[in-house]
Amino acid sequence: MIDNFASRLSVAPMMDWTDRHCRYLHRLLSKRALLYTEMVTAPALVRGGARHLLRFDPAEQPVALQLGGSDPEELARAAEMGGAEGYGEVNLNCGCPSDRVQSGAFGAVLMQQPALVAQCCRAMIAATDAEITVKCRIGVDDQTPEEVLPEFLSQIVAAGVERVTIHARKAWLQGLSPKENRDIPPLDYDLVFEMKQLFPNLHISLNGGIATLAQARDLLDAGIDGVMIGRAAYHTPTDILRAADKEIWGGEMGPDPVDVVLQMRPYIEAHLADDTPGGGKLSAVTKHMLGLFAGRPGARQWRRHLSEHAHRPGAGWSVVEDALAAMEQAAPPRVAAP
Ligand SMILES: Cc1cc2nc3c(=O)[nH]c(=O)nc-3n(C[C@H](O)[C@H](O)[C@H](O)COP(=O)(O)O)c2cc1C
Repeated sequence: MIDNFASRLSVAPMMDWTDRHCRYLHRLLSKRALLYTEMVTAPALVRGGARHLLRFDPAEQPVALQLGGSDPEELARAAEMGGAEGYGEVNLNCGCPSDRVQSGAFGAVLMQQPALVAQCCRAMIAATDAEITVKCRIGVDDQTPEEVLPEFLSQIVAAGVERVTIHARKAWLQGLSPKENRDIPPLDYDLVFEMKQLFPNLHISLNGGIATLAQARDLLDAGIDGVMIGRAAYHTPTDILRAADKEIWGGEMGPDPVDVVLQMRPYIEAHLADDTPGGGKLSAVTKHMLGLFAGRPGARQWRRHLSEHAHRPGAGWSVVEDALAAMEQAAPPRVAAP
């Protein structure tokens, strides 16, 4: 079970981004932040034999599995598999607007079917001890968020859900790409805060457009239970996650990003030696490390060296060392004044 304290700050589920390598890296920067998997569809798990998608390193905990689906029985089986695999939380995706997902009737279209979502949640809760949570939007298309969001939340609360993340903008299912759907529909944080007034016992995390740790802190201070950060955590992981344990939980500051790189070495070498599906390629890990030095001297050289060399056949740990050297050469460490 994930405790509510952990979900004060989480890194959003992001397809192709928050895979197990990315989560392992994020965990080195913050011991406390709650990490989400990419969405895994219930049909892929239950019917497609895609159990390998559940794989994670125990060091990633606390980690939550996100599922996509809309069939209560199938979601229950998938949640059961997730719980058995060791996930403390299983999250139902009711916010993803992509076409592929619409055709399978999951993701944001489920904002139009709160009774079905509640049925799915009930079935999942009955199937596993892992906590069942929901990630949703404030509405879709021409829905009126002030009306549909409280109705949606009251139905899932009645089903037994105690924690939810709200991406504070609508999804427009027609005419916008998934990427545009993360930027164009306007953010409405006030509505999310109103939901906290209406549902004081529901743990509510706010998601959407949070760009800095200071902004996350301000939202928590204003009374929201948790914040979820997506793109900023991916592109600038050091800025968001390194100070998170200290700023959000009063713990220790995370390691310097150079130390994080060095701490990745055993993980990377084990990955390079792994001949099971998904193992073996350096770039599969280092693509998530490109932003580690964002905004710092030499960041461009770091990124460029990894981008140019890590995907080559046979690329190994020395590519990472060379990228560090390229960065240091561009920005030599300052010598202390005598
Ligand atoms: C590349 C990418 C993939 C995403 N995949 C998912 C997903 O699998 N499930 C989901 O619920 N949201 C997904 N999202 C949405 C994020 O979880 C988050 O709600 C959104 O990016 C807004 O937060 P942000 O402004 O902090 O990035 C994805 C976002 C991005 C950028």
